[in-house]
Amino acid sequence: MRERIVQLTIVDDYEALSRAGADLMADLIEARPDASIILATGETPLGLYRELAERRRRGELDVSRARFFQLDAYMGLGPDDRRSLYGWMKRSVLDPLDVPEANVVRLPGDAPDIQAACRAYDAAVRAAGGIDLAVLGLGPNGHLGFNEPPADPASPTRALDLTEESIVSNARYWGGRDEVPRRALTAGLSVLLAARGTLLVVSGAHKNAILRRTVEGPIIPDVPASYLQGAANVTVLADKAAWGE
Ligand code: F6R
Repeated sequence: MRERIVQLTIVDDYEALSRAGADLMADLIEARPDASIILATGETPLGLYRELAERRRRGELDVSRARFFQLDAYMGLGPDDRRSLYGWMKRSVLDPLDVPEANVVRLPGDAPDIQAACRAYDAAVRAAGGIDLAVLGLGPNGHLGFNEPPADPASPTRALDLTEESIVSNARYWGGRDEVPRRALTAGLSVLLAARGTLLVVSGAHKNAILRRTVEGPIIPDVPASYLQGAANVTVLADKAAWGE
């Protein structure tokens, strides 16, 4: 049986958040070396990924049997585009952990048949026996991956239009809003909410209001992340700035 608890852990700062997140991920991989893990891009998990890479360099971590799933992708970009989220994932976590390409399930935003690519992704999740851990960041509008509000908790992996808020927030990655593609692919909420574990990392005072709505507010389509309140084994790891102490 699954436990339904949101475990909220508040730590002092971003460094502590990165260490605690790495502990959680490393513990999972130790217990289940062939774990299936979804990895967010974005800025928040970068410290966690750096910490894991350090541990691997010190010989404390072996991820060679784990399988990693891309969380989301901009539509129309190949893997060599500077804005490719696969490229981001490769640079920030896959290469530093020396993950072989065969152990990665991409979400290809440049596939000729996007619907077929999304169905293939969901089939790969099923074939892996589901997701053991989804490592997620929290969008300024409460999005998980690119599941934008209003969100359907049963939604499959699919293509969708980004909201203005996500375009504006992604603009900082690429040097302006005109650089941000308007459509994206995302692992569906149905995939994320079915994960056997979730780690939501949240840092910074600008996430304060949306974090409170995520964990304390009603479960509503306008705050996609609020659906985590009904999911299994969710750890919300936030620094004090994000929690608002
Ligand atoms: C990234 C992603 C997004 C981000 C979210 C928070 O793959 O899916 O949902 O996790 O927008 O981004 P940061 O961490 O940059 O604040």
